[in-house]
Parts: sequence; C-alpha cells; structure tokens
Amino acid sequence: MLPVVTYGRKRQLDDYLGEFEQQFVYGAELRKFFRTASATITYAAPVRRDAPPGSWVLHVRLSPRLEERFGISREFLVYCMPVTDLQTRSVTQVKKLVESAENPIESDLAMIVTSDPQAKEKLTDWGVERTTGMIIIPLDRDQLVNSTSGDTASVALEEVISNWISAYNLYDQREPVSGERFFGRSDLLRDLDRKLAGGAGHVGIFGLRRIGKTSVLLELKDRLRRRPNVVPVFIDLEGSPATSHVAYRLGQELVKAISSRSSTSERSIQRTLRLPEKWDDIPPRMLISNIGDNLRDALSSGVLSGSRLVLIFDEAEILLPDTTNPKEYAIDLFRVLRGVAQETQALTLVLAGVNATPAESPTLGNEDNPLFGLLSIEYLGPLTIDECTQMVRRVGRKMQLRWEAPGLMRLASAVGAHPLLARLAASDVATTQTERPLRPNIAQVEAALGDFPQKHSAIFSQMVQSLQRYYPDEFELLKLIAAGEIEFALTFASENATILNHLSGYGVVNEREMEISIPVFARWLRAHQA
Ligand SMILES: Nc1ncnc2c1ncn2[C@@H]1O[C@H](COP(=O)(O)OP(=O)(O)OP(=O)(O)O)[C@@H](O)[C@H]1O
Ligand SMILES: [Mg+2]
Repeated sequence: MLPVVTYGRKRQLDDYLGEFEQQFVYGAELRKFFRTASATITYAAPVRRDAPPGSWVLHVRLSPRLEERFGISREFLVYCMPVTDLQTRSVTQVKKLVESAENPIESDLAMIVTSDPQAKEKLTDWGVERTTGMIIIPLDRDQLVNSTSGDTASVALEEVISNWISAYNLYDQREPVSGERFFGRSDLLRDLDRKLAGGAGHVGIFGLRRIGKTSVLLELKDRLRRRPNVVPVFIDLEGSPATSHVAYRLGQELVKAISSRSSTSERSIQRTLRLPEKWDDIPPRMLISNIGDNLRDALSSGVLSGSRLVLIFDEAEILLPDTTNPKEYAIDLFRVLRGVAQETQALTLVLAGVNATPAESPTLGNEDNPLFGLLSIEYLGPLTIDECTQMVRRVGRKMQLRWEAPGLMRLASAVGAHPLLARLAASDVATTQTERPLRPNIAQVEAALGDFPQKHSAIFSQMVQSLQRYYPDEFELLKLIAAGEIEFALTFASENATILNHLSGYGVVNEREMEISIPVFARWLRAHQA
C-alpha cells in the first residue's frame, strides 16, 4: 500500500519552519503559540498527498511540566490545514499520518489546526475518540490569534489541551485495547513472543469473559509483527458462520501475506492459489484441503519459506464449544493445520477462549482430537496490583486526575486488579467528581464502590455466564465460596482437584485463603446468586 503522505525530503528543520511560516496562513502565530508555551517543534513538512493544498504536519514536544501534567512522553502530531470546512477524511488522515511518522510519536493524541469555527462541534459529533481511538484536539484560528496576545499567552496551550481532554472519559473503554492503551502482562507477552517466534510449540490462552484475552492477542500480534521472519495472522472466529468461512479467511490472509512479500497483486495470487471468489463456492472439505496445500507450499518452498506463520484464533468456542459437539468440519480444519505444522515446522497455532477442555480431551465427538496434547495452556487472570494501579494512574493523568495512593490502592484491591473492573470503577469516580484537576481520595473511591456490583451487573453476568455454561461445577464451587460456606466448599473441592485449579487459574479464587479474589465480584455473587 502506498503511504498517504509524502514527507518532504530531509532538510534542515529551520529551513522547513521558515517555509512553514511563509506558506501556512497562520504559521507565524502557531510557531509563537508553541514557543510561548515552551513547546518545541521537532519536525515540519508539507503534506502533499490527499490533503487540502497548503497543509502541513508538525511534531511538537511539550515542556517537561506539561508532559508530566498530561501524561505524554513523546512528540505529538499537529496537522495544520488552511480550511474553513473540516471534513471527516481529514480526521482519518490524522491517524494515517501518525502511523506513517518516521519516529514514534504519540499514537492516541494529536491536534488539528484549521480556520473552521465549527471544528469543535464536528469532532464531538463524529465521536472521533471512539472511531479512531485517538483524542484529536481542535485549535482554530480565532483561538490562536486571541491567545498569542495578552498575559495568559503562556498558559494558552495548556488550557486548550486541558479544556478539551477533561471532557473525555478515557477509563470507560469496552473494546479490546492495544498499544499505549494496553497495560501490564509484560512477562506473559515477552514469553509468548519469544516462544512463538522461536517455534517452540502451540499455545492456548484461556480466561473468563472480559478479562482481556483479545487485548493480549492484539498486543501479541503487534509484537510478532515487528520480527522480520514472523507473519502473525489474527482471526476472530466470532465473525464466522461456518468452519469453511474460517478456512476462506485464512486463505485471504495468506494471499495478503504473499502479496506483501512479492510484487504480485492480491487478485492474481488469489487466482494462482485457486481460491474461490466466495467462501461457500466450493464444498467445505475441498476448501479446507486447498488451504492446507497452499499453506504447505507457501511455507516450504514459496515466498513464505524461511518465515514462521503464527495463526491466532480468538473465540475458540465458536469452533469448539465443548468436547461433544465440535462445529461441523472443525476437526478437519485443525487436523489439516496440525499436519501443515508438523510437515513444515513453520506454522504455530494460538487458540484463545473461555473453555480449555476441548483442547484437553483426547476425543471430540466421536473423533480423535487433533489438538489433544498439542497446546501448552496459559490461564489469563487479572493484572497484578502494581500493573493495575499503574494503569489507573497513567490513564488518569491524561484526564487531569491524580490519585491519592490510599484511594488508588483501595480501588485496585476492591476489583482484585481486574483490568476492566478497575477501569469502570475509576470511570465511576471520574464521572461523579466533575472538578478538574482532581485528586481522588479513599472516600470518593468508597462512595463509587457502594453500588458498583448493581451498576455493572451486566459485566458480572457475562463473567459468570461463561462459567455456568462451560464449567457448571466450578460455578457451584464459586457460589459456595462467595456465600462463605467454606467447609462445604473444601469438601466439594477435595473431590475434584481440577475444579479449584480452574478457578484459581482464572484468577477468581485465592486457593490458599479459599476466598474470592475479586471482592466486588463476591458481593455481586452474594446479591445475585443467593
Ligand atoms: N491489559 C489491559 N490494559 C488495559 N485495559 C485492559 C487490559 N486488558 C483488558 N482491558 C480492559 O478490559 C476490556 C476487555 O478486554 P478484552 O476485550 O481484551 O477482553 P476479552 O477477554 O477478550 O473479552 P471477551 O470475553 O468479551 O472477548 C477492555 O475494553 C479494556 O477496557
Ligand atoms: Mg475477546
């Protein structure tokens, strides 16, 4: 794919800045604006492609004080456009500009400078934060002109940023996170990255619903992608109506991988590999074996030879809901993939989901289970307390929240360092206390925790639904522990050790103390499962 922008050839920064002042309608004011706030422009270049004529891009580094205040540690992008009518495509372009920047810059914060007085309303209206995952701060010409004169000039930049971002609630994030939004789990990721890149076996990652599985997979994919000879492919099985659809998507990913390593177009590769136009054009078994052959060829002698393909399947339940009823053709697909892995030694499988048993059972339905003994299984539990407090603190800085240590500890321990629950609890504090800057204290945290289980009942229901469905015995034990029936729970657990192991693997029960390690969850269970 062609880059959307051509950054100008490298030249002295000063030359470019001089040109910027002359060419961009209020370049001089903007330079002064940043200079007055002790911010430095470290990069400037005209944007030539797909941009309104006369557009420029700058990278700006804030003063250490402001970086500290807003939790920023790198340059951020400033997109300057001489337009009076801001369009959505410019917003999409900001993201592309950030992604194609030569040096790493802030990936979740940028600024747009325009002459459009409606820019603020538009950005709010378009829900930019949700669609791009970025906070884009608008600055218009009037603001710029007014703020560069007068005695508040030195704090103008600070005000522009803080007024805009204090409206956001960065805690309330329900989609999977990666990049700068992902926190913790560094040991696990380092191990997985090394293991998978080195071809040291296949992996299963299992955890309760909403614990952060997809986020880990996305983060893992990004890490693997940085390695020269590894091709990570992520497939969310949720979006597939049938096994052959999964095989088809696998074929498409293979086409993409081959195309990006050769000069051939995706279309002609698709034809060479004799992949059908649509996923249900040919019988499932034929499609699956075709994909297997193509994978084998590509990895053993084709453009991908010498590379390792890491195939990441999220939501494994879709193909393997339990040990008795695998989805039609799911066994065929896994058998073929296992075969390719063995023959080429260049394909690695990563499977993630809630229920590990289909990977641990020798049979699936009436057939041998091709995954049996294949995966080494990792359970995904909550974060560590340190990781959790760091997440809450760092996200908070961007919203002008500075947590008092006791309040933060109280929050993290009440949610057992569960990443989503921690974000929601922090979000509750941030929305009930509206003044900024804010220093949330223990009383404010207690107040927010009061009705936490009721308020977020839907999340707890999701967490237990997966247990109820796949692990009914584990669920019974969990209820006993929540109800304080410890004697009974101990007897129950002693009859089948794997039950307690599962719960402790999921990180919801502290085996030694025989208690639920997420106190707000225990409260919810007592209230809802009595
Ligand atoms: N490492 C993390 N850092 C920051 N936030 C996280 C992390 N892991 C999870 N979260 C938070 O938890 C939410 C759920 O994460 P994610 O979607 O990855 O979980 P999941 O286990 O895949 O959920 P599901 O069972 O619904 O597929 C995210 O929206 C995010 O707010
Ligand atoms: Mg998920």
